Amino acid sequence: MRLDRFLAECGVGTRSEVKKLIRKGAVSLNGASQSKADAVVLPERDEVFVFGEKVIYREFIYLMLNKPAGYISATRDGKTPAVLELVPEEHLHFEPFPVGRLDIDTEGFLLLTNDGDLAHRLLSPKKHIPKTYIAEIEKPVSPEDIEAFSNGVVLDDGYKTMPAKLTPISNNSPYLAEIVINEGKFHQVKRMFESVGNKVLYLKRTKMNDLELDENLELGEVRELTEDELLLLQNTDR
Ligand code: URA
Repeated sequence: MRLDRFLAECGVGTRSEVKKLIRKGAVSLNGASQSKADAVVLPERDEVFVFGEKVIYREFIYLMLNKPAGYISATRDGKTPAVLELVPEEHLHFEPFPVGRLDIDTEGFLLLTNDGDLAHRLLSPKKHIPKTYIAEIEKPVSPEDIEAFSNGVVLDDGYKTMPAKLTPISNNSPYLAEIVINEGKFHQVKRMFESVGNKVLYLKRTKMNDLELDENLELGEVRELTEDELLLLQNTDR
């Protein structure tokens, strides 16, 4: 790839900023000063320094967001605050996007990445990636609800869900339950509870695939995944 693009992708600056740096002689490629913005760089092979500091190339970024209510998961619609507004500036040049959607009023674990292949695998209906939620509901969970969820319930549009694991956490007010689903239909958890005559009052995603939300992450906070965490997420062949 071109040197200016390489530097921009590494977060050194915008395309025009890095072009200026290259013109100024601040950039060296494999030990020699390089003044051509279109010099070819192979990230795995070449060594690039800016002001004597080595530039580390990285293609992908993986971010965990503890999504607060009030933000949409879409990239941006201009009016409603979008989750990308919570991503620190330093990560934005990677162009991360949210993997799947949480409703505007749902909180918890949202993955943002620019790794389209991983996003595709995590969202593929063929992969049945488990997603775990904690729901506060209007009424306590009954043994019949647990049974119904484990067989799959019929939603308002006639769709029969895959089996889901429903576990009551508190059958005293506030009524809380954990639910694990292996698909991602629109408003799925809310509609599943509706199908058994209950109502979700609050919803939080706590886990995606084998990776749990870091409970130390404040609402609205974002951090990069560790390598071990990434491995838990990447394991999509079950
Ligand atoms: N199910 C829902 O109903 N809403 C979400 O945000 C996620 C799953």
